[in-house]
Amino acid sequence: MQAQADAWRREGQHIALVPTMGFLHAGHLSLVRLARERADRVVVSIFVNPTQFGPGEDLEAYPRNPERDRDLLEAEGVDVLFLPSTAEMYPEGYQTRVSLDRLPQHLCGVSRPIHFGGVATVVIKLLHIAKPHLAVFGEKDYQQLLVVRRMVRDLNLDVEIVGGPTVREADGLAMSSRNAYLAEGQRPAALTLSQALANARKQVAEGERQAAVVIASAVATIQSEAETAIDYVKICDPETLEDISEIDRPVRMALAVRVGHSRLIDNTALLPPNPSSSASAQGETP
Ligand code: PAJ
Repeated sequence: MQAQADAWRREGQHIALVPTMGFLHAGHLSLVRLARERADRVVVSIFVNPTQFGPGEDLEAYPRNPERDRDLLEAEGVDVLFLPSTAEMYPEGYQTRVSLDRLPQHLCGVSRPIHFGGVATVVIKLLHIAKPHLAVFGEKDYQQLLVVRRMVRDLNLDVEIVGGPTVREADGLAMSSRNAYLAEGQRPAALTLSQALANARKQVAEGERQAAVVIASAVATIQSEAETAIDYVKICDPETLEDISEIDRPVRMALAVRVGHSRLIDNTALLPPNPSSSASAQGETP
């Protein structure tokens, strides 16, 4: 992979990397298309990274279908599918990890304390292996996107990080490989995440400024379905992820909810109405 990347770079070709854990869906493919638009060569990696799974998490059960993934990527015109083994990525004697001090102390990092160190570690390895000019990540995993951007800045990595919007099913459910764990009857429970976020966007666009009020409505929406168990519902600073109490500027709302065996996450921008304009902006990106 490194030799191929070096050869492309010598020819002046622009390389994009899309890191994934496979079991690809339309969300992943949207990132591939973003990469395709912005680079001459597109590398997609598929690696179910053990260092980002905690004890008792779903590493063994994580859904896999590399043959189907390869066909999907071929149809997208991807140049290289990089599919390393665990032994290649973490050979005997491996002992280095990247860690961040503060971002992982919020949101998903609270219940998954080793997760973001594992993500940062595998992402920096993939960046050094594929040597891309740009790498594409989804806003679906908003905290991960911030962690990667922070690491790139902090360690002076010579790569541009591009964020892609969350792709959803027609009913609003954010696409995720882990949706494969959902049983048919759990759909209404899974839909409470996107419903709670849509309600929150509406409340804030209509002038609600108290984070506690918006959070309480979201909790009620989620708890209206018996099969849900909330991990967190937060409204936070879009850069530091610190809790905020007053929605007086664009902020981020993020939630994590267990539905049966699946832990689902989703997030949105919350944009308070702009007093100087009549139209109140709404949407995924500020
Ligand atoms: P994975 O969950 O496979 O996701 C790969 C990329 O696809 C991530 O950047 C993720 O944010 C993005 N993605 C997932 N669902 C999406 C959706 N519905 N819409 C848009 N983008 C979506 O995230 C990982 O893998 C891993 O942590 C990884 C970064 C590969 C490191 O191991």
